[in-house]
Amino acid sequence: MAQTVTPHQRGIVAFQPLDVELRSVFKFFNQEPAVHGIDLDIRQGEFFSILGPSGCGKTTTLRLIAGFERVDAGKLLIQGQPMTDIPPYRRPVNTVFQSYALFNHLNVWNNIAFGLRLKKEKLRKAEIESRVNEALRLVKMESLRSRFPHQLSGGQQQRVALARALVNRPAVVLLDEPLGALDLKLRKEMQFELSNLHKDLGLTFIMVTHDQEEALSLSDRIAVMNQGKIEQIGTPSEIYERPKTSFVADFIGDTNLFSGEITAVETAMVQVVTKTGLTVVVNRTEDTPTDLLKAVVVSVRPEKIQLSLYQPTLVNNCFEGRLVNVMYLGTHVNYVVELINGIRINVLQPNTFGSLPDCDTPIYAWWAEDDCLAIDS
Ligand SMILES: Nc1ncnc2c1ncn2[C@@H]1O[C@H](COP(=O)(O)OP(=O)(O)OP(=O)(O)O)[C@@H](O)[C@H]1O
Ligand SMILES: [Mg+2]
Repeated sequence: MAQTVTPHQRGIVAFQPLDVELRSVFKFFNQEPAVHGIDLDIRQGEFFSILGPSGCGKTTTLRLIAGFERVDAGKLLIQGQPMTDIPPYRRPVNTVFQSYALFNHLNVWNNIAFGLRLKKEKLRKAEIESRVNEALRLVKMESLRSRFPHQLSGGQQQRVALARALVNRPAVVLLDEPLGALDLKLRKEMQFELSNLHKDLGLTFIMVTHDQEEALSLSDRIAVMNQGKIEQIGTPSEIYERPKTSFVADFIGDTNLFSGEITAVETAMVQVVTKTGLTVVVNRTEDTPTDLLKAVVVSVRPEKIQLSLYQPTLVNNCFEGRLVNVMYLGTHVNYVVELINGIRINVLQPNTFGSLPDCDTPIYAWWAEDDCLAIDS
C-alpha cells in the first residue's frame, strides 16, 4: 500500500472526485444550532482541517460525517451517496477520538483486531493477521504488540488509536484533536508522522483541531469555523495571507486590527482612515471593499511591520511612536510600539540586531501597502 503514488504525491488533489459533501447542513441541540447551515466539499486524498475556537461546532461536524449524530436539515453525502439512513458502521469512514477510546482489557494487537473481528462479512484469520500487522507497521508499533494500554505512553496510545482506524481501510479518516493530549515535542513528531502516513496511504483525512499552527502545517485546505458557521475555506496560505473576515484574520496568527472607513478608492489601492486617526493605504485584492465610506477593518501582521530609528522617506503607512515593550524570544524579538495617537501595535522582527533598543526609544513603524488588508467589517 505504501508504494502506490497517491493523488497527493501527484499534486492533483484539486481534480479528484468529492469524498465528503455537506450541503446547508444544520444540527440543533435544545433548539440551538451547533452547526448552522454549513457547506463543505472535501476531495479524495485531501488533508482537510476544521479549525475554530472551543464550542464552534467542530466535533459536531465530524460526528455528523461519522454518523454518530443525525443531520437535522441539509444533505450529507459520502462518495456521492446520501448518508441519511446509513449507520456509522456502514459508512466508509473511521474516527480517531481525542480520548483514544482504547479497550483497557485488550493488548495492542487485539485492540487493533477488534473491529475486524466484528465485521459482518467474516474475514479469514490470515487476513485479519496480515491487516493488523500492516497497521502496526504503519504506526511503528510492531515491537509493542503485546502491551496493554496502561503500559503505553500517550504517544504510543495515540498510534494504536490511529492503527485501529486504519486497519478497516476506510476511505476517509476522521481525526478529532488527534494530538491534543501530547506534549509539544511529541506532538511535533506525530504531526510529521501523520503527514507522512497521509501521503503514503492517499486516504482522505479530516482533522479537527484548535491548534492553528498544526492546521497550517499539515493541511491541503482549512475550514475556519465560528459559532456553527464556516467563515472561510482555503489553503493555509490563503487563510493566513488573505483572510476574508476580521474573525479569520484575528484567529489565525497574530495581527493588528484597526477599524475605520474607506476615504478614497483608486484602481490599485484604497485609502482608509481609522477611528483613531491613522491614514492607511492598502493595495487592492479581489476581496477589497471599494465603496466610499464603507466600514472596514485593516489587518497588518506583526511580522510585516518594519521599525526604524529614523524616519524613512517615500513610504506610506509610516507612523511615529515609542517602544513600550521589547520581548526577546530567541530567534525573534517582539516589540510593542505605542503610536503617537495612543494606539499600541505588535511588531515581530527576526533577531538580527546586535543589541536591542531600550523601552521608550522613539521609533518609526511602517509597512508596505501590499502587506496589509482592508476587510469588510
Ligand atoms: N450532545 C450535546 N447536547 C447538547 N449540546 C451539545 C451536545 N454536543 C455539543 N453541544 C453543544 O454544541 C456546541 C458545539 O459543540 P462541539 O463539541 O461541536 O464544539 P467544538 O468546536 O468541538 O469545541 P471544542 O474545541 O471545545 O472541542 C457547543 O455549544 C456544545 O455545548
Ligand atoms: Mg471538540
